[in-house]
Amino acid sequence: MTDQTQSSRIPGFYNISLDERRLELAARGMLSPENLAALYGDTGISIDQAQHMIENVVGLYALPLGIALNFVINGRDVLIPMVVEEPSIVAGASYMAKLARIGGGFIASTTTPEMIGQIQILDLSDLNSARQAILEAKNELLAEAAVIDPVLNRLGGGPRGLDVRVFEDSPIGPFLVVHLFYDVRDAMGANAVNTACERLAPHIETITGGRVHLRILSNLADRRLAQARCTIPVEALAFDDFSGEQVRDGIIAAWAFAAADPYRAATHNKGIMNGIDAVVLATGNDWRAIEAGAHAYAARSGRYTSLSTWEVDDAGNLVGSLEMPMAVGIVGGATKVHPGARAALELMQVKTAGELAEIIVSVGLAQNLAAIRALATEGIQ
Ligand code: MEV
Repeated sequence: MTDQTQSSRIPGFYNISLDERRLELAARGMLSPENLAALYGDTGISIDQAQHMIENVVGLYALPLGIALNFVINGRDVLIPMVVEEPSIVAGASYMAKLARIGGGFIASTTTPEMIGQIQILDLSDLNSARQAILEAKNELLAEAAVIDPVLNRLGGGPRGLDVRVFEDSPIGPFLVVHLFYDVRDAMGANAVNTACERLAPHIETITGGRVHLRILSNLADRRLAQARCTIPVEALAFDDFSGEQVRDGIIAAWAFAAADPYRAATHNKGIMNGIDAVVLATGNDWRAIEAGAHAYAARSGRYTSLSTWEVDDAGNLVGSLEMPMAVGIVGGATKVHPGARAALELMQVKTAGELAEIIVSVGLAQNLAAIRALATEGIQ
């Protein structure tokens, strides 16, 4: 039997008053009074903290925070904070999570949290011998990158490998790019990776005789992926005059449109990002990095396409899946200083960045289903 106090089902949450919703949340005992106050927006970041975050600060800016209900992810009920200005997003995700729940909820996973750092090398007379020289010095370079962040090393992170890519032809002629693979554990990782790239630059110049130009993280984090999958029993899809089969086939036809056409894929993926960004924002993570990675990954075949897939299983049920880069952290940056972000992480009871990524990608899949189910049936207006 599920423990009701930990369930993500809160029947009638939509219809009760704000105070009653807050009481429901408090009664679950997941959050301290301080974290509840932070989630309510009573104690967000102070103007003083804000001044340490960016330049030219004159004020603070608030957005609504809602709770997505009904989510079961890898067998665990989770209440999900979403920060977003658009109506229907929180309701849509919650409703689709309720349908997915009937089929066992979301099954989600992540790869190891490896980010990519890029080091561009110019002014090389022989690209291939420079490439060879870097590959021969690989172990030394990785050892040098390993001493940069002792904390990350202690936590089991650090450099994992490197690769050298050759660009024979570019607007400024040929150059090389080193890719440094770096396990950043529970951090977003930009600082660690950028520092490592800057540290390796002089050594790489000595090895190659070239001139290192850019040293920066790539947001196409295709070695740090998150996947989610859900099965919706076909009968659960029926509503009003629509049969389950009609809704299922309508959803698959809507997905096929996005799979075939970049103009539709952009909007389809925007619907996914409606859910993704709202949780990324609630947890103080860098949503521009997630957006950049998502769209670059959607175009990885050379043609921009859908990030998700919708198909029928042998029993006739609707099966959805979503895979995309998910460079989110639970330590450092705004995730650490913003009281609302800390409270959001606490509410979801995530212990690792991977768990957070699994939640986010599940919300993206639910949001995608909400949009294309509505579009394929009654429309969204
Ligand atoms: C609107 O914010 C998102 C949708 O356009 C997504 C979609 O078309 O799939 C409804």
